[in-house]
Amino acid sequence: MKKLYYIINGPNLNMLGIREPEHYGKESYKALVKSVKDTAKELGVRIKLYQSNHEGDLVDKIQEAYFKGATGIVINPGAYTHTSVALLDAVKSTRLPTVEVHISKVEEREDFRQISYISLAAEKRITGRGIAGYSEALRYLASK
Ligand code: DQA
Repeated sequence: MKKLYYIINGPNLNMLGIREPEHYGKESYKALVKSVKDTAKELGVRIKLYQSNHEGDLVDKIQEAYFKGATGIVINPGAYTHTSVALLDAVKSTRLPTVEVHISKVEEREDFRQISYISLAAEKRITGRGIAGYSEALRYLASK
């Protein structure tokens, strides 16, 4: 059976290509989906892609990754990165290797973006690589 990875995106990431292109680039969420699907095909792994604007739905999806037997999680929690203990606890509870991805270079942005709860559970962090960061994260997990 091919390995399964969950790729989870939080609030406003469905607005990629429309929202603040100076931070998030011009590529759409659809382009992100295509690029990660292509990488999964190349790596010979299965992926489940999910985006939600709702914190509890994201918690449910992280738990689902555990119950469906996923091998790892790639997560961009969007603004919940900086606020959500619930998402941190959810990732911790799965004990799955997790990569935190940010499209923009968060470390060079506002002070309030310098706190990341999810970082406490993620074994790797990729920032500022645009949508390519997701494929990089998947390659990292698949090569473990
Ligand atoms: C983001 C960075 C967050 O600070 C922001 O709230 C987002 C997107 C990124 O991908 O760069 O929604 O996670």
